[in-house]
Amino acid sequence: GWNMHAFVERAVDELRRQVTGGRAVVALSGGVDSSTAAVLAHRALGDRLTAIFVDHGLLRRGEPETVEREIGGRLGVPVTRVDARQRFLTKLAGVVDPEEKRRIIGREFIRVFEESARGVPDVRYLVQGTLYPDVVESGGGRTATIKSHHNVGGLPEQMQLTLVEPFRYLFKDEVRRVARELGLPDAIVHRHPFPGPGLAVRVVGEVTAEALETVRACDAIVQEEVERAGWAGEVWQAFAVWTGAWSVGVKGDARHYGPVIAVRCVQSDDGMTADWVRLPYEVLDRISHRITNEVPTVSRVVYDVSAKPPATIEWE
Ligand code: XMP
Repeated sequence: GWNMHAFVERAVDELRRQVTGGRAVVALSGGVDSSTAAVLAHRALGDRLTAIFVDHGLLRRGEPETVEREIGGRLGVPVTRVDARQRFLTKLAGVVDPEEKRRIIGREFIRVFEESARGVPDVRYLVQGTLYPDVVESGGGRTATIKSHHNVGGLPEQMQLTLVEPFRYLFKDEVRRVARELGLPDAIVHRHPFPGPGLAVRVVGEVTAEALETVRACDAIVQEEVERAGWAGEVWQAFAVWTGAWSVGVKGDARHYGPVIAVRCVQSDDGMTADWVRLPYEVLDRISHRITNEVPTVSRVVYDVSAKPPATIEWE
């Protein structure tokens, strides 16, 4: 039997042995791996750990608050929230190519994180929630070089931090068990997979404040209704998409031209292949009515009935 209590004790000891002098930082993303790494490292290192939460404005409704309340508040990890929402929007302005969006978001995330990490006195270590499959894929290096793509007045061009990876021999289900052992909330432990570029790849075309706000509001409704209907544990991912299509509807007496929102709900074992979930019509009906009632610019909701392949899970 794989005993999580024993794992945590061993991991805490090992973290204390590895992080001998100076401070450590961890990048909180809202996901289970980084959240669990932060809580574990905090248990081992106390306030020698700073968790940096880059708020890029691309998370789901309530997620930044959950991270701050649960990881920062309830579990007592020192969390620095960096509000980079406007910065990401500015960088993404006018960008429509999905891969270009991903590059911009990845690059900007590292820049913001690095700028914030430089502000931590005597920082020498980077704790990451890397899992075994990722370690195998990358060959597993020991030093993290966070490349700076621009010069920040007078600072060296690169930050050298020693990488600490407490979960490098764990699989996803094991990290979830560690998370439970450490008292993380269900909202984080059972979070569905969520892409790093977040809602930006669920907005087809340019990421604008309006599109983000709309897709976030619709997504929250999808989450609530899928959860309420008891389907959350059955699905791999469920979400809303700003399709970039516009269509005519009627609101009151007037014709109204508004964005078309798609709902996507898929079953999958590993994300490589997927099928659309046969949600009951009543659930789809509630989602559709709530979206058009509560998100007034939307007058048309469609359900994505595509399998992967050939469609990908995300629209971008
Ligand atoms: P696709 O859309 O390729 O998605 O069928 C397969 C799985 O990967 C997730 N996904 C991403 N995850 N960064 C991520 O961290 C990305 O850029 C990205 N794109 C897709 C997707 O949510 C699904 O679970």
